[in-house]
Amino acid sequence: MAQQRPVVDFDHHSKEYAQRVFSNPTAFFQLMQREHPVAWSEKYGGFWIVSRYEDVKRVSEDDTTFSSRNDLPQQGVAFNGITIPGNPARSTPIEMDPPEFFDYRRLLNRWFAPAAVEKLKPKMREFTTWCIDRNIESGCLDLVLDLAGPVPAMMTLHVLGIPLEHWHLYADTAHAVVYTPPDSPAKRKAIEGDMMMRGTFVEIIKERRRKPGDDIISHLVGARINGKAIPDSTLIEICSLIVHGGVDTTTSLLANTFEYLERTPADRRRLIDDPALIFSAGEEFLRYYCPVQMLGRTATRDVELGGQLIRAGERVGIWWAAANHDPAVFEHPERIILDRFPNRHAAFGLGIHRCLGSNFARAQYAIVLEEVLKRMPDYRLMRDQAEHYESIGTVNGYVKMPATFTPGKRRSAPVELTALQ
Ligand code: HEM
Repeated sequence: MAQQRPVVDFDHHSKEYAQRVFSNPTAFFQLMQREHPVAWSEKYGGFWIVSRYEDVKRVSEDDTTFSSRNDLPQQGVAFNGITIPGNPARSTPIEMDPPEFFDYRRLLNRWFAPAAVEKLKPKMREFTTWCIDRNIESGCLDLVLDLAGPVPAMMTLHVLGIPLEHWHLYADTAHAVVYTPPDSPAKRKAIEGDMMMRGTFVEIIKERRRKPGDDIISHLVGARINGKAIPDSTLIEICSLIVHGGVDTTTSLLANTFEYLERTPADRRRLIDDPALIFSAGEEFLRYYCPVQMLGRTATRDVELGGQLIRAGERVGIWWAAANHDPAVFEHPERIILDRFPNRHAAFGLGIHRCLGSNFARAQYAIVLEEVLKRMPDYRLMRDQAEHYESIGTVNGYVKMPATFTPGKRRSAPVELTALQ
């Protein structure tokens, strides 16, 4: 075991990190994998960065040694949850460990299971059509602000049972929290916005209790764990997690796909000619761009990993993005291969916390991309106006991505957003 920890200058929320990922992600990830596969950064109170696929898998799958727990300040400060730096407000169940984790995850699974997602597909198509119809005659739209942002946001609110007209509030808040660098003055504002968003759940939970519907919140307010109702504070933590999980990630995957296809006409043509390829292409974009770059754990005991001694209480960054470019697992990880097979990427995580919404995300992704390639196949980006997130350390996304295309016809008459609920 190494006597001294390898200290690297590493900050996943920095501009330098973003630059290296944008310019040559594979080279950046592989340098770390070769030279410092388990490295120590002094940022954010100190944390380990784990970059090889095998080690990422081990940390994610050993939830006894590597805890996801987030202790709120009044309960002690031992555990900081899954973001680096830690989040002052907890998300449930992602920031819980077994056994209580399973009680909550079990309650949520059915809402995102393949059969449930199948039933939601017409709604996904309807929301996508609504967003495209609003812009199709003009020949210009912002692929993020007018489409890849709203569709996942509207769908997430729809399954939760939150009125659609407020989708902007939730989407803007969720985006700001992830793309604002932790040390910046704007971060405090973003966190205040997040707290306000959490506050809105109070009324919605009350309303769903009064008038239940066929949605997650109505289901949760009537649910029992060990014979007891779920406290409102925990219901808020669950709603917040689903909004954060659902709103930003699929948007980022779509945005990176649009950007790549625009500068790679042969692959755009391939997907237009053969939409059946969209599923495997989506998996490849998940691998390559990895919307959720890194999440954290806290070691519960001293443990050896990759020749380093990780001490109990130390934080560990699971670098999903790097694992997805590990040459030990992926042949030519630097290439985007639309029909790559097998493709065991780690973009949805590994282990018990593996993404709850993966099927939901895949379905939305496929529908939105298919509609874009059908209805505006010649879209061109206004690249000088496209804007990446300032920090991509949590989510590798875009703020905006304006585009032009040959105008087309609406599919249906204009309707108000509220009529879509
Ligand atoms: C491209 C889209 C998405 C990506 C890349 C993604 C990525 C991830 C990752 C990496 C994890 C694992 C976290 C960990 O191990 O600590 C996760 C968990 C989770 N995701 Fe996603 N996600 C996506 C879409 C969604 C959607 C659409 C939803 C819900 C509407 C969602 C809800 C969740 C939830 C609730 C968890 C926590 C699961 C648990 O702790 O059991 N995600 N996601």
